[in-house]
Amino acid sequence: MAKATMYFPPDFKWGCATAAHQVEGNNTNNDWWAWEHVDGHIRGNQKSGLACNWWGDGFERDMEYAVHMHNNAHRLSIEWSRIEPKEGQWDSAAIDRYRAMLTLMREHGIEPMVTLHHFSNPLWASERGGWESPDIVPLFERYATKAVEALKDLCDLWVTINEPNGYAVGGYLRDVDPTSVAIAQNAMPPGKDGFGLALNVVDNLMLGHAAAYHAIHRAQENARVGVAHHMRLFEPYRSNSLLDRWVAGNRDRLFNQLILDAMLRGRLRFVKRVRSLRDTADFIGLNYYTREFTKFDRHSLLEAALGHGVIRPGTEMSDGNYGELYAQGLFRLLKRLAQTGKPIYITENGLPDADDDQRPRFLITHLRAMWRAINENVPVMGYYHWTLTDNFEWAEGWNLRFGLVELNPQTQERKMRRSGELYGEVCQRNLIDDSLVYKYTPELVDTLFPG
Ligand code: FCB
Repeated sequence: MAKATMYFPPDFKWGCATAAHQVEGNNTNNDWWAWEHVDGHIRGNQKSGLACNWWGDGFERDMEYAVHMHNNAHRLSIEWSRIEPKEGQWDSAAIDRYRAMLTLMREHGIEPMVTLHHFSNPLWASERGGWESPDIVPLFERYATKAVEALKDLCDLWVTINEPNGYAVGGYLRDVDPTSVAIAQNAMPPGKDGFGLALNVVDNLMLGHAAAYHAIHRAQENARVGVAHHMRLFEPYRSNSLLDRWVAGNRDRLFNQLILDAMLRGRLRFVKRVRSLRDTADFIGLNYYTREFTKFDRHSLLEAALGHGVIRPGTEMSDGNYGELYAQGLFRLLKRLAQTGKPIYITENGLPDADDDQRPRFLITHLRAMWRAINENVPVMGYYHWTLTDNFEWAEGWNLRFGLVELNPQTQERKMRRSGELYGEVCQRNLIDDSLVYKYTPELVDTLFPG
């Protein structure tokens, strides 16, 4: 067997990513909790319930796994509805809990990246129309200022908004794409349907991001602020079909490029210039899961422009047809993002795989794709695997298991998966070598280390 080692840069950040509503439990005061309690919204009418019990002792328990895996970073979100339970009222006990969490991370050398908005809204804000109206922008800005003032001695790396595109598609384009996989299928609150509405929501999210970006920099001199942007690799189903290429290109523009153009060039809907939005990314956060093939479809006006997603025969998919395992997509998107000149964090990357038979291979191939990009001078600063412990996967409930650690939500029992051991070895040694590949994914040795 050939000997070879892929080294990662010194100071590289290794961690996992989580979101408040998916892990904390008993988040009773937000729109997601209300949404879950309506029959038919979540697969099998499952509930987040206690989730991973992070509001109890689950956070402390999960951090032991992060420490065991030698993580030196972790991305988590704070819950607006806990910090500001009623409009203009602040809960100091909630802030203290987050301070205790960040302090524990710091004690273990785990650098926090804190997300201010990860899909959930306080009930009072969603009752006011949520992100459908620009009225939410100053409210979000005030919350961001409050949060950063309260936590700035413990954190200087911030994500304003998680996946503005995913939020708009999930909440405002219900069933636009019934044959597609993953997020496009997931109905999220408020479960509305309208293309114009979805665009308004993206506009307001990006204005909220810009307002928070400037507020955070006013509150903290050394802050680094960005968005966690979900990008998918859209490809034509039939590569020689002009129509398939056209619809794949449209999806790419609307899902991927729209958000980049907003935060980098200060343009809403590609044309409307907003000065305060220009260059509001100190880094690009990339959430990468999969590629999607798109096929032209003349059914409705929207489908004519956007086509629909198709699974190619013979494609290896993760659990529940969530997505194709396609590591090369990560490399290609990183190369594309390198053109922005911004540092990049991979803020999410993972797959649902309850029996952990694909995850070891997923990890090795995706980390190798990232390594290749770094070797071509793409400034990737860190990698946050989605996710640490199995958690409440939105509309999919507990059906999809993304954790490096397995969780029984009823008993709160945890068990490290083999892929967690693998990830721990990579994080500890800051490299991948042939013996590691041989140990965890012998089937990859010949392709990764030929000769
Ligand atoms: C992303 C979300 C995250 C999680 C993963 C699987 O789109 O940001 O909360 O649900 O998908």
